[in-house]
Amino acid sequence: MYNRGKILPGLVIFLALLTFPFWYEKGGTAPPALPLDTPEIQKLSVKKCVEPTPFMKASHMELLNQWRDAVVREGNHLYANHEGKKFSMSLSQTCLGCHSNKEKFCDACHTFSGVKPKCWGCHVVPKEGRT
Ligand code: HEC
Ligand code: HEC
Ligand code: HEC
Repeated sequence: MYNRGKILPGLVIFLALLTFPFWYEKGGTAPPALPLDTPEIQKLSVKKCVEPTPFMKASHMELLNQWRDAVVREGNHLYANHEGKKFSMSLSQTCLGCHSNKEKFCDACHTFSGVKPKCWGCHVVPKEGRT
């Protein structure tokens, strides 16, 4: 005879597999789109961050720590990147100067990744970033 105890779980697994692509998408597993259409970035002839994107993705937090130490401990405000291009080491003015869409860029990815950097109690978010 039919074995209910086996058919039901089997059916559930079958349905789960069938609908997998739908809830996989809906479940928010896909990273958010990160808009780069800010006024400062639009002005760039070559759309480049301070350092190459893979490095920025993986290590922007270490870069920021390095910047803070250089400014606070050594009083050095200029950073030369791997191409020798100079940037003022400022979280609010340099990073958020280009990424003025903080909420849609920094915050969106941090929310997705479950990270909550505690910088904004002290560091100013320029006006555009608060939209
Ligand atoms: C308790 C307050 C406080 C918090 C929280 C804080 N900072 Fe700072 N930070 C400062 C002060 C004060 C300076 C020195 C400003 C100067 O000398 O120009 C500074 C300087 C810096 C600088 C270099 C100059 C500048 O204006 O950007 C960086 C980069 C920086 N902090 C990054 C961070 C990051 C990243 C976080 C969050 C993970 C953070 N800070 C959290 C107070 C804070
Ligand atoms: C001169 C403008 C500019 C400055 C300054 C800048 N960025 Fe960027 N950033 C960009 C551009 C343009 C890209 C996208 C590059 C690409 O398309 O590969 C980017 C990419 C990134 C990415 C990777 C996003 C992804 O696709 O995963 C991160 C993270 C990032 N920036 C963080 C920062 C931080 C933190 C700072 C300050 C230390 C900073 N950026 C300063 C222009 C800038
Ligand atoms: C593509 C995703 C992504 C983007 C875009 C991004 N971050 Fe992050 N950020 C992360 C992840 C993931 C971590 C945690 C990494 C870890 O803990 O190793 C992190 C960590 C940080 C930290 C350290 C937090 C802490 O408490 O130690 C700071 C500061 C930070 N991000 C600043 C920024 C700023 C400023 C921007 C926008 C200019 C930005 N990030 C954009 C993914 C992103």
